[in-house]
Amino acid sequence: MLSKVTSIALNGLDGVPVEAETDINNGLPSYELVGLPDAAVKESRERVRSALKNSGKKFPAQKITVNLAPADLKKEGSCFDLAIAVGILKATEQLSGDTDGIIFLGELALDGSLRPVTGILPLLISAKSHGFDTFIIPAGNAREAAYIAGAKTYAAQNLSQVVAHLSGAAPLVPLEAASYRGGEAAEEKFDLAFVKGQAIAKRALEVAVAGGHNLLLVGPPGAGKTMLARCIPGIMPDMTFEEALEVTKIHSVAGTLGAEGIVTRRPFRTPHHTATTVSLCGGGTRSVKPGEISLAHGGVLFLDELPEYHRSALESLRQPLEDGQITVTRSSGAYTFPANFMLCASMNPCPCGNYGSTERPCTCTAAAIHKYRARLSGPLLDRIDLQVEVDAVKYDDLVSEGREESSAAVKARVEAARAVQRERFANSPHVHTNADMGEREMSLFCALTPACEQILRLSFERLKLSARARSRIVKVARTIADLAGEAEILPAHILEAVSYRSYDIHA
Ligand SMILES: Nc1ncnc2c1ncn2[C@@H]1O[C@H](COP(=O)(O)OP(=O)(O)O)[C@@H](O)[C@H]1O
Ligand SMILES: [Mg+2]
Repeated sequence: MLSKVTSIALNGLDGVPVEAETDINNGLPSYELVGLPDAAVKESRERVRSALKNSGKKFPAQKITVNLAPADLKKEGSCFDLAIAVGILKATEQLSGDTDGIIFLGELALDGSLRPVTGILPLLISAKSHGFDTFIIPAGNAREAAYIAGAKTYAAQNLSQVVAHLSGAAPLVPLEAASYRGGEAAEEKFDLAFVKGQAIAKRALEVAVAGGHNLLLVGPPGAGKTMLARCIPGIMPDMTFEEALEVTKIHSVAGTLGAEGIVTRRPFRTPHHTATTVSLCGGGTRSVKPGEISLAHGGVLFLDELPEYHRSALESLRQPLEDGQITVTRSSGAYTFPANFMLCASMNPCPCGNYGSTERPCTCTAAAIHKYRARLSGPLLDRIDLQVEVDAVKYDDLVSEGREESSAAVKARVEAARAVQRERFANSPHVHTNADMGEREMSLFCALTPACEQILRLSFERLKLSARARSRIVKVARTIADLAGEAEILPAHILEAVSYRSYDIHA
C-alpha cells in the first residue's frame, strides 16, 4: 500500500512543501527513510514506532519505505514525525479519512504526544502562499499559529487526537484567529524622564530613531550611555502587524520566541562582546539560524563598549549595515535573512575613560589611546551617522527638580517624522526611513540649496569626510528637517547633522 501525506520544511526563512510517501510491502521487516534526511529526521523511526504503539496502533512488521520529496532539499529536524506517522497509518489502513490538502507538522514524543516545532509561523505563511489552508499542528504552537488569518488550523495534543479528528470520531475545533494589538504590552522599564540633563545626547537619540540612523555614544564610565541606549525602544514607533509578523518569523526560526507567540515590541539585542561572526550574522553547521543582527531586525542592535568586540565580528557588520540584510553561504546553499536594524554603540574615549573629561584626569598614554581607538576601523565608523560625546551628568542636573521630558512625548514627535517619511517613500517599497534612501531617493528628496552645499563643502574638507559620510550627513539633515516639519533642508539642519560627525575618535 502506498500513501502520501504533506508536511513542510524550512529553508532559511521560507517553507517548502514536502511530500511524505510511504510504501509498505511484504518482505523482511525494515524501515528505510530516503530523501536527504539529516540525523534528526532519521531518528524519527524510533519516535514514530513508540508513538504508534503507545497510541494503541500497530507499527507494521513489514518492509517500510518513506520518501521525503523533493529529494534534493535537505530535510532537517523533527517536524516531519507527524506526517510520517499518519502516512504509515494510512498505508496500513489503520486510519480512515481524507488527508489531501492538509499540512501536518509536529515532533512525536515516545508516548505519542506532539511537541512544538520551531519556525511554525514562517512555515504556515509559506504553506498558505503555496495554496494550503488546512493545518494540523502541535498544541504547543497554537498561540503562534493563531496569527495566520484565513486558515483552518487544528492544534492537537497527541497522535490519538489527530487520528480521531481525521476519522471524524472526535473532530477538533479550528483555532480562533488572534488579533494583533501592537505596542499594547510596550510598557518600557527605561524612560527618558529618568535621565537628567544630557540634552544633546537625548536630541541625538531622537534624530537617530526618527530617521533610522546609527548612533555612537562616547563618554566616561557612568555617564549614562547604557541608560540612554536602553531608552531607545521606548521612543521607536509601534510595529504594524506586517512588521510584527516579519520580526516574529525570524524569532520563530531562531527559536527565541516568547510565550505570546508574536513579537509586538521592537527587539533590543545586546550580544556579548565575545560574540563571534556566526552568532552576530547567522549560520551554524546543522541548520542555518539567523544571527543577532537579524534578531535585531526592526529594532536595535546595542553593542555596549564597542572596542571590546572582536575586530572580525565588527567588520562583518559592514555589509548588512549597508544592505539591511545578510546572506549566509553554507555548503547546503545560500540563505538570506533580513537585518535592517538600528545600530547603537557605546564606548569610552580611552582605556581609563576620562580622556576629554573636565572633571577627572586621563591617565592613558597617547599610544594607549591610539591603540584603543584603532580597534575600530574607519569604514565601520563611517556607517555610524551620529557620533556624540556624553559627559557625566552635572550634579546640579542630577538633583534638579526640573521635569524631564518623557519617552512618550519624544515618541510622538518620532511618529510624526516617520509619517512624513512613509508618505515620501510610498512608491519605494524597500525604503522605510531616511536612512534607507539610495541614490535615487536622495536625488529626489534631498535637494540642497547653494548655502547648504557651501556648508557641506567646508565640513567635508575640514573634517576630511568620506563620500559615504557626506551622503549620511545629508540623510540625517533630511530627518532633522522632517522633525522640524520643513519641506526643504535648511542650513541649520545641515549644521546640526555635521555636528554629529565632528567628534572624530580617530583624530
Ligand atoms: N543623566 C543621568 N540621570 C540620572 N541618572 C544617571 C544619569 N547618568 C547616569 N546615571 C546613573 O548612573 C548609572 C550608570 O549609568 P550607565 O548608563 O551605566 O553609564 P555608562 O554606560 O555610561 O557607563 C545609571 O544606572 C544611573 O543610575
Ligand atoms: Mg555602560
